[in-house]
Amino acid sequence: MAWGLVSMTLRGLLSVVILLSTATSTDGRDVHVTCVFSEDCVLPCSFLPGSEEVIHWMKPEDKDLTIHSYYYSTDQLKQQSQRFRGRTALFNDQIPKGNASLLLRGITLQDQGRYKCYTSTIKGNMESFINIAVEAPVRLVDIQLSDDIITCSSTGIYAEPKLTWSTDPPSDLSFDPGTIQNSTSIKVDDQGLYDITSTKQFSRNLTNICTVTSGTVERTATLKQQGNQSINS
Ligand SMILES: *[C@@H]1O[C@H](CO)[C@@H](O)[C@H](O)[C@H]1NC(C)=O
Ligand SMILES: *[C@@H]1O[C@H](CO)[C@@H](O)[C@H](O)[C@H]1NC(C)=O
Ligand SMILES: *[C@@H]1O[C@H](CO)[C@@H](O)[C@H](O)[C@H]1NC(C)=O
Ligand SMILES: *[C@@H]1O[C@H](CO)[C@@H](O)[C@H](O)[C@H]1NC(C)=O
Repeated sequence: MAWGLVSMTLRGLLSVVILLSTATSTDGRDVHVTCVFSEDCVLPCSFLPGSEEVIHWMKPEDKDLTIHSYYYSTDQLKQQSQRFRGRTALFNDQIPKGNASLLLRGITLQDQGRYKCYTSTIKGNMESFINIAVEAPVRLVDIQLSDDIITCSSTGIYAEPKLTWSTDPPSDLSFDPGTIQNSTSIKVDDQGLYDITSTKQFSRNLTNICTVTSGTVERTATLKQQGNQSINS
């Protein structure tokens, strides 16, 4: 009887703790994670360790799409959405330590959005939200010269890139539209990534610099003197 009371009180205390932590994790402070296109990404989630773990990873904005479930001490993938088949894993040896993080392989642009991590043990349940942004950083900037026209291009970028021309020493390119022509075009490939291309008249005496920027990543290619090409990144 006395033990029953003690255990009830403990449970009461624990659920207060759990309610508090649920409140802090749902008051809009989502965890933000940036994943790199086509690579693997870990969505972090932790819970107060306890036996009889149940873990559900879901995507609430996609009709609560089931991404990965775990209960009865094993992965439960019957309800898993087709889109995530073969792409998910928990760190099963870490689950007893309260680690419900999810490994998601081969990130696509569709994977962007808000994920829910629901966990439950005999000590109570918790929910946390993880917001995923995907980026495909600018990798290579290609620069080519043909008939006094320089073409600068870069492919497979996300989010939408910007391309700018400059020279070294600096010159005001927009000030002299008679000698400079430029055009930039952007297209989207079948994976949703951006290809960007721009052309400009070659400035003979100057180093011609093309800069492609997306997010925090900026890559540059330079060209000077016909026949001499140098690419830096
Ligand atoms: C869970 O375990 C994985 C693999 O060891 C680790 O990368 C991750 O940081 C852990 N996450 C948490 C929330 O402890
Ligand atoms: C390129 O063209 C755009 C619009 O056509 C213009 O706004 C920009 O200033 C031009 N850039 C240069 C470097 O001439
Ligand atoms: C290149 O530089 C030379 C000497 O500085 C100058 O005479 C010439 O006009 C310049 N050419 C162009 C295309 O700017
Ligand atoms: C190209 O560069 C080399 C050395 O970097 C130089 O010797 C050569 O004169 C340059 N060619 C032209 C066309 O400027």
